[in-house]
Amino acid sequence: MNFNKEYCLLISKHLGVSENTIFTYWKGRVALYAALKAMGIGAGDEVILPAFTCVVVPNAVLYLGATPVYVDIDKETLCTSVSAVESKITSNTKCILIQNMLGLSSEVDEIIDITKKKGIYSIEDCTHGFGGSYEGIRNGLKTDCAFYSTQWNKPFSTGVGGILYVNNETLLPAIERLNKELKTPSIKNVMVLRSLLYARKYLLKNWSYWFLIRLYRRLSSLGLVVGSSSKQEIDGIHKPGGYFMGLSEVQAKTGVKALNNLDVILQKRKKNGNRLNDWMRDHSKYHIKEALLPNHSFLKFPALVKDRILFLKAAENHKIPMGDWFTSPLHPVKGDLSEWKLSVAEFPIACEISAQIVNLPTDLDDMGPLFDFLEKHKNELI
Ligand SMILES: Cc1ncc(COP(=O)(O)O)c(C=O)c1O
Repeated sequence: MNFNKEYCLLISKHLGVSENTIFTYWKGRVALYAALKAMGIGAGDEVILPAFTCVVVPNAVLYLGATPVYVDIDKETLCTSVSAVESKITSNTKCILIQNMLGLSSEVDEIIDITKKKGIYSIEDCTHGFGGSYEGIRNGLKTDCAFYSTQWNKPFSTGVGGILYVNNETLLPAIERLNKELKTPSIKNVMVLRSLLYARKYLLKNWSYWFLIRLYRRLSSLGLVVGSSSKQEIDGIHKPGGYFMGLSEVQAKTGVKALNNLDVILQKRKKNGNRLNDWMRDHSKYHIKEALLPNHSFLKFPALVKDRILFLKAAENHKIPMGDWFTSPLHPVKGDLSEWKLSVAEFPIACEISAQIVNLPTDLDDMGPLFDFLEKHKNELI
C-alpha cells in the first residue's frame, strides 16, 4: 500500500480540497522552499514576511538568492497588519508570506486582496495551524499556497514533516516537476526518527517527561537526533545537504494514525485557549482581542512575563510544560540577525514580544495545575 497516497488523501479530506493539490515533504520548511521555487522566486526578488518567525522561513527565501523584507507585527494579534505589509511592497516584491502565529491569523483576506491587485503571489505559513480555521474556513485555503508542519509539537505530529497545499492551479506543473528532484530520506534519518517516535509513544510518560525532554534538547543541540533545525541552519545561510527531501513511509504511517484524533485535540485546544484568554483578561494581563477568538484554535497560548528565565524555572519546578518558542524575532537565533538581513532596531514590537513571551500549553486534560500556577505567579505576568 502507498502510505503517502493514503496520507495525502486524508489531509485533503481534512482541508476539504482536491487530493492532487497536496504534497508532502520531510519538513515544513522544505514545503515553503518548494512553493517559492515553483513561483520562480530567485535573485533580485523580494519576499515580504513577518519579523517574528522561525529562522528557517527567511532561510528558504535566502537559499533561493531572494531577499527577505521584514514587517513588524501587531501586538494584539502577533500577526502582520495589512497597512504594515502594504508599506513594504516595491516593484521587486514577488510574494507576501502571511503567518498563522500559534494558531492565530489576522487580516488574511485584506492582504490577499492587495496581492491580487498587485499581481504578487501569497503564501500562508500554517505550520502552527493545521485544521484550525479563520473566518469559518480552514487555515491556509485562501492564499496561492500554504504550508503546514507536523513536527513534534504541532497540531498533529509525524516527528518531523511538512505539507504543501497548492491553491493556485497554475503552480501545479512547476511543483510536480520540482518534486521529481526530491531526495529520499536516508536509512540513518529514518532510523533515528523511528526511535524517537517509539520513545515518544512508549517512554514519554508523566514520570519520565522532564528527563526525556532535557535529554532530547541536549542531544538535538549536539546534532545527534533529528531536531527541529540543524546547527548549519541556525549558524548562518548554509543550505544543509539533503535539504530538499521527501516524506518517509514512517512519517506517512504516523500521520494517518495521528489525523484520526485531530478534531478532538483541536476542540480541546480551542476551549483551553479561550479559558486562558479569559483568565488573562480578567486579571488585566496581556491577552488576544476578543474579535479574533472564535476563529482560532491555539497551539500554545502566548503569555508575556517580566523575567522569562525565572518564570520558566518556576514552571519546571511545578512540572508545568511551558514553551520557550519565539524568544527572538528569528527564533531560535539570538543576537545579531544581520546575516538574515534583519536589523532588530527596526522592529520594536517583535523585539518587545520576543523578550517577554512564554507559551502556555493548551492540550492538557487537566488545566487545574496550570491555573493554580498562574494564580500564584500572577505578579510576574505582564
Ligand atoms: C512559524 C514557523 N514557520 C516555519 C516553521 C518550520 O517548520 P518545520 O520545522 O516543519 O520545517 C516553524 C517551525 O516550527 C515555525 O514555527
